[in-house]
Amino acid sequence: CGIIACVGRGDDTLDTLVHGLSKLDYRGYDSAGVALTGSGDDTVEVVKRQGQLDALRRVLETARADGAEPRGTVGMAHTRWSTHGAPSDANAHPHTDCTGRVAVVHNGIIENYQALRDELAANGHEFRSETDTEVIPHLIEELFDGPEYDPADPEPAIREAVARLEGSFAVVVSVAGVETLFGARQDNPLVLGTSPRDAGSAGGERSEPRAGATYLASDVPAFRAFTDRVVYLENGEFARIDAEGWTVTGTDGEVVQTSVETVDWDPEDTGKSGYDHFMLKEIHEQPRALRQCLQGRVDEMGGRVTLDVDVDPERVQFVACGTSYHAALYGAELFRQAGVPAQAFLASEYATSPPPVDDALVIGVTQSGETADTLSALREARSRGVRTLACTNTVGSTAARECDEVLYIRSGPEIGVAATKTFAAQQTALNALALSVAQERRRAGDVRDSLSALRELPGDVQAVLDESNAEALAEEFVGAPSYFFIGRGVHFPVALEGALKLKEISYGHAEGFASGELKHGPLALVTDETPVFAVVTGDGPLATKTIGNVKEVESRDAPVVAVTDGRSKVERYADHVLEIPEAPPRTAAVLANVQLQLVAYHVADRLGRPIDKPRNLAKSVTVE
Ligand code: G6P
Repeated sequence: CGIIACVGRGDDTLDTLVHGLSKLDYRGYDSAGVALTGSGDDTVEVVKRQGQLDALRRVLETARADGAEPRGTVGMAHTRWSTHGAPSDANAHPHTDCTGRVAVVHNGIIENYQALRDELAANGHEFRSETDTEVIPHLIEELFDGPEYDPADPEPAIREAVARLEGSFAVVVSVAGVETLFGARQDNPLVLGTSPRDAGSAGGERSEPRAGATYLASDVPAFRAFTDRVVYLENGEFARIDAEGWTVTGTDGEVVQTSVETVDWDPEDTGKSGYDHFMLKEIHEQPRALRQCLQGRVDEMGGRVTLDVDVDPERVQFVACGTSYHAALYGAELFRQAGVPAQAFLASEYATSPPPVDDALVIGVTQSGETADTLSALREARSRGVRTLACTNTVGSTAARECDEVLYIRSGPEIGVAATKTFAAQQTALNALALSVAQERRRAGDVRDSLSALRELPGDVQAVLDESNAEALAEEFVGAPSYFFIGRGVHFPVALEGALKLKEISYGHAEGFASGELKHGPLALVTDETPVFAVVTGDGPLATKTIGNVKEVESRDAPVVAVTDGRSKVERYADHVLEIPEAPPRTAAVLANVQLQLVAYHVADRLGRPIDKPRNLAKSVTVE
């Protein structure tokens, strides 16, 4: 889910919120809503609708045409990805109390909501939704009705309500007629945006800076068009923002000294820049993303990798989900090659049945840094006293702040739900990390041979993008009943990722297998209608073995697509070739994946799928 809230933007408040939502809808999009209030109001005005942001936009446009749009100088908005209660108008945020005085937007899960709801219902509160969130405004209302409540200062009651919540939350509370917003976080991100250095209007055009505009949001893109100055709130912190400024306090009510950070990416980075979809734009941004990832880290002349993390582990356990899990499998393979025992675990499984940690370094791979399953696994590891490292794209994310060390992948913001450039940057950052460990262990040969390949990687990715025939191939195979992907060693995670990308965005059935495993079952599914994508690079023993597996499917008449640099001559057994430049296996795995991203994209595009927002999926899943 996504949150944007602001005070101090005057007549521009509603447009600012809608603009913020348009930057956030990748966090969830089954409903959206806004709430506004201003001086003298008795109730907070709420408009919310099931469906994508456009559904809400239409309602607001009609209201504006009728002169009945919600007005106010204090506003907040939410885009939802359901956890409690189906997508519906009633379950959409913001939620209000019985009187309409209090409105709340919330990300996360209130674990004790049933007990709170029973208690409040017994006191006469009527609930209109099935959400856990709705208990919050009712709880605040209950405290407002208490003898100690001072209408001139709603903060103590809101703090008390927040203190009674168990679970994870980022919440923003608005009270009718009060020109202050209140925000609190626990295990869910909440970011404060402060007085603009370069404010603009919601339409994107520059206008006079508005002194005092302040924002709260689940993530920075929501207000990045208006300010680049941010404060990342910590767990347990409470923020109040108004036109004069903001304060952050701890659970004890004492003011916390925060640091204002400047984000260095441009608002343009979160636009589509002429591409039909964010996913295609992000695929094409990979050369730049990898240059950023490698900048200052690889010294080819000196034969060294320099990372700002301090690790030389005895053993490594990776934890991750989805695409990041595939990067973790890739990373584990590289660590093993560097002589370090390493394993990758699905974070959700790690948290439920943790393996012995011994003296492992636990690495959480998570582009958002907010995936609940991965955070749980990292916390599980920390609770057993082992060191943790976050490999993430998101500065200030929960994973970055909770882990002992952070390796940023620096790919820039990714909007498409299907991860592309962040996967390539994860591969590249983990590649550099494994090399830095090999370097510590004086496996100099490993390092020198790999450094030049890393340096050439961005250019090689560009060559793949410039010359790929993936679109024509997608045309040929669109509508196939199943797609299979095979690879060995570092190409096994690429096979898994190729299949995941295709199923996520095209809704076609796709599976990835370790090449050698195909004959142990999946071969039964192979027919002359099921394309098999085989990643075969170099001409070593792995390539020879994979070619053996290619022959197994070829003899079952399956159309074979070889993703190859041509050195193994696998094309003799393939119907089609997706070519990549010659590179050592560890960087070839990045190049091969780019071809498979393009295949998935073009198959989904031909089918007219909503590529950036596949059904049922969200970019960042903050529930377990
Ligand atoms: C969600 C997304 C996936 C992503 C996974 C892990 O399920 O839909 O694309 O790979 O989360 O995300 P993370 O932010 O932890 O890398």
